[in-house]
Amino acid sequence: MSEVIDQLHRDHLNIVKLLDYLESELKKVGGDRIPDFQLMHEVMHYMTSYPDIYHHPREDLIFNRLRDKPGVDDGPIDDVLEEHQEIIERGKRFRAALRTVLSESMMLTEDFLEIAHAYIRLQRRHLDREESSLFPLAREELSDSDWREIDAIFENAPDPLFGRLVKAEYSHIRSVIG
Ligand SMILES: [Fe+2]
Ligand SMILES: [Fe+2]
Repeated sequence: MSEVIDQLHRDHLNIVKLLDYLESELKKVGGDRIPDFQLMHEVMHYMTSYPDIYHHPREDLIFNRLRDKPGVDDGPIDDVLEEHQEIIERGKRFRAALRTVLSESMMLTEDFLEIAHAYIRLQRRHLDREESSLFPLAREELSDSDWREIDAIFENAPDPLFGRLVKAEYSHIRSVIG
């Protein structure tokens, strides 16, 4: 079995922690407590720099290989591959919205919340789909030689936030989220 899919599963658990954090900060918008927009921006910097660059492309390769297996339904695979593009676009939009807020430019609160919640909703639905159907299918359908080939394609890309060595720009989030 592949180390890659175990790492992808660990990434999911970490992404969920970050989504929970973002959601808890968003609850403060318009209330008495001030959301930490700077830290939310750091989270989105990570999301658009590590999962978007390393996590989804690894899954793309696994899912495309899965699609080649006889009897595997293309429909759910195509949906998830499309969602990767949507996550990347919505992630950039959310990050840009946070930059707007941080630069004290004007933005309607409802527009900001809509962008933020749309991103979180999409990510959660996507993770659920992968964990409940595509990862189990990949573990079942892909052979040892498939996994060896997939493993060989990937360069080692340590996670800069949840890995053993934390990049300086993420040390604040790591200390808050753990
Ligand atoms: Fe994915
Ligand atoms: Fe994923």
